[in-house]
Amino acid sequence: MNKEKRRVVIAGNWKMNKNARETRTVLEQMKNISVPEKVDVVFCVPAINIPVAAKEAAGSKISIGAQNCHWEKSGAFTGEISADMLKYYGVGYSIVGHSERRQYFGESDETVNKRAAACLENGICPIICVGENLRQRENGTTKDVIRQQVRGAVKGFTQRQMAGCIIAYEPVWAIGTGKTATARQAQEVCAYIRQLISEIFGRQAAEGLTIQYGGSMNAENAKQLLSMEDIDGGLIGGASLKAEDFEKIVASAQ
Ligand code: 13P
Repeated sequence: MNKEKRRVVIAGNWKMNKNARETRTVLEQMKNISVPEKVDVVFCVPAINIPVAAKEAAGSKISIGAQNCHWEKSGAFTGEISADMLKYYGVGYSIVGHSERRQYFGESDETVNKRAAACLENGICPIICVGENLRQRENGTTKDVIRQQVRGAVKGFTQRQMAGCIIAYEPVWAIGTGKTATARQAQEVCAYIRQLISEIFGRQAAEGLTIQYGGSMNAENAKQLLSMEDIDGGLIGGASLKAEDFEKIVASAQ
C-alpha cells in the first residue's frame, strides 16, 4: 500500500490550554475550516472540556479526542478518566504516552500499552506517542529508544488491534522548542517505526498504519513534513490553538 491509500490524520493537542468558553469560541471557527477529502481532523482537548467540545463539533467534520485515558473501566483511581467515560461523549481518539506524561506523570511503556488496549476495546483510536530526547539523539540511541517504546506500546496486540492504532513520532527535543526535526530526520524515524511494525505484524499492517510527526509543526513547515513517504499526519501543539494557523496546516495535508 502506498502513502496515498493511508488515512491522513491532523490532530491538535491542546495540552492544558483553554477553558470551556475559549474552547467553544475556537471550535466555532475551527469547525468551518475546509477539510480535504481523506483527511481527518481531531482536537484533543482537556478532559473537562470534552462535553463542550463534542457539542460544538457535532455535525461537523471535526472529531474530538482526549489526551489520556485509564485502562480500567472504573474504580479507585483518583484523577483518572476511563475509556468508557470518553466513549459516552463520542470521543474518537485519545493520545496515550505523550512525552509530557512520560516525563512528569510516570507514564511507562507498560501503562501506555494498557491505556491503548482500553481505548481499542471502546472503539477509540489510541494515538501512541514515541520519541527520543536530546541526549538520546546526540548519543546515537534514537532507534533503540524508538524500538523499545514501540514494542512496549503494542505488546500482545493482535493485528486487528494494531490496525486501530496511530503512532505519533514526537522527538522530545522538538516539542514546544520551535526546533522542528528536518523532514529527513522525521522521515527516517517514521520509516523505522513502519519497519518495526512490519517485523511484528507483517507488511500489510505496517503499510496501512498512519504515522504522525509532532514537534513544532506549523503552517510553514507542515507541507514539507507531510509530503514525506512515511509521514501521514501531524500531532500539533502550539499551532493548533489558533484557527488561522491550524487551517493552513490542514490545507497542506492535501
Ligand atoms: P508543539 O507543536 O507545540 O511543539 O507540541 C507538539 C506536541 O507535543 C503535540 O503533542
